Amino acid sequence: MVLLKANLMKAFGVDSLSYVDFDDPRPGYGQVVVKVVEAGVNPVDYFVVSGMRRVEPMPHIPGAEFAGIVEEVGPGVKDFRPGDRVVVYPRVFCGRCDMCMGGHEHLCRFGGIVGMITHGGFAEKAVVNEANLFRLPDNVPWDLAASLPVAALTSFHALLEAGVGPGDVVAIVGASGNTGQFALQLAKIMGARVLAVSTKKWPLELGADAVAPVEQSYDALIKMTGGKLADVVIDAIGTPTLPVSMKLLDRRGRLAIFGALRGETVTFSVPELYNREVRVIGTTGGTRAEMAKLIDMASRGLLKVKVWRKLPMSQAKDALRLLFSRERDGRIMLVGEE
Ligand SMILES: NC(=O)c1ccc[n+]([C@@H]2O[C@H](COP(=O)([O-])OP(=O)(O)OC[C@H]3O[C@@H](n4cnc5c(N)ncnc54)[C@H](OP(=O)(O)O)[C@@H]3O)[C@@H](O)[C@H]2O)c1
Ligand SMILES: [Zn+2]
Repeated sequence: MVLLKANLMKAFGVDSLSYVDFDDPRPGYGQVVVKVVEAGVNPVDYFVVSGMRRVEPMPHIPGAEFAGIVEEVGPGVKDFRPGDRVVVYPRVFCGRCDMCMGGHEHLCRFGGIVGMITHGGFAEKAVVNEANLFRLPDNVPWDLAASLPVAALTSFHALLEAGVGPGDVVAIVGASGNTGQFALQLAKIMGARVLAVSTKKWPLELGADAVAPVEQSYDALIKMTGGKLADVVIDAIGTPTLPVSMKLLDRRGRLAIFGALRGETVTFSVPELYNREVRVIGTTGGTRAEMAKLIDMASRGLLKVKVWRKLPMSQAKDALRLLFSRERDGRIMLVGEE
């Protein structure tokens, strides 16, 4: 039997993850085997490994965000061949339900997340549906390629759903995070003035107009704009920051939320919402059409990623342990073996 190396969870808990031999994946009809070159490490992977999400199949290979090289194609695959550089759209979708037909395949009624309801990319190779593959231009570096499917796509979709446009004032809470660093760059590309809310200073190097920690964010916003509040706030941090995010919002402002990293409950005063016509928008993931635009932006040199650590693929356990460490200062990536 042919084997591949994979980070496999036989039970829940980061400590249960081990880098072991696993059955070599065979591509079914319309499927492609991708040799993983680089994978981004995200909170979703931590939640999967910790058993905080419904996970299939078990034993399970996590990893929602990855890019690589086509190694083998299954029957019926038309558009890809071995050697192609590719990046993987991270949502499984049926293509036939009302959500898919409406262009919202990230909300497919029969779908889910790659690496959660299927084996993922924290392995030497992964099997994915041809419909999930995008060709990657040669000039897009692997660090960036492996940051487009989750970090960049989630942020881009949220900014689009919040209707960010030229001249808007946007505050990004958690601007040094995986999603935050793309939210700030994309908001700039969309023509906004951006306050990065972070204890780190380097979001300025990614183009933020100002940076401030949560406690000083209101004053920093007023200073940045000369008195105006935010048209859009992106906040995926949750309980500790949402009350501040509400205060950053201007009348008719939009608060976009795609996660609750530090706590899921929050209290809002109802008049605070309706008196100011504030809109709260939930988003999750993004569409393939948005991912195609991100790949195009990446190939035109418009996007960067700040990587803190690159670990070998065999060290997914260490990568997940470092994800919420105080010293983290940028993305953590897992790199496949040559
Ligand atoms: N629905 C989806 O499709 C989707 C996709 C991606 C992510 N998410 C969710 O979105 C959330 C963010 O993901 P991520 O990958 O961007 O996370 P991340 O990289 O771990 O976020 C780190 C950022 O959060 C900030 N932060 C952490 N704790 C904080 C606190 N107590 N107060 C203020 N700021 C705090 C950090 O601030 P400093 O800059 O000061 O260090 C840093 O900027 C997670 O819950 C994730 O699951 C959802
Ligand atoms: Zn569907």
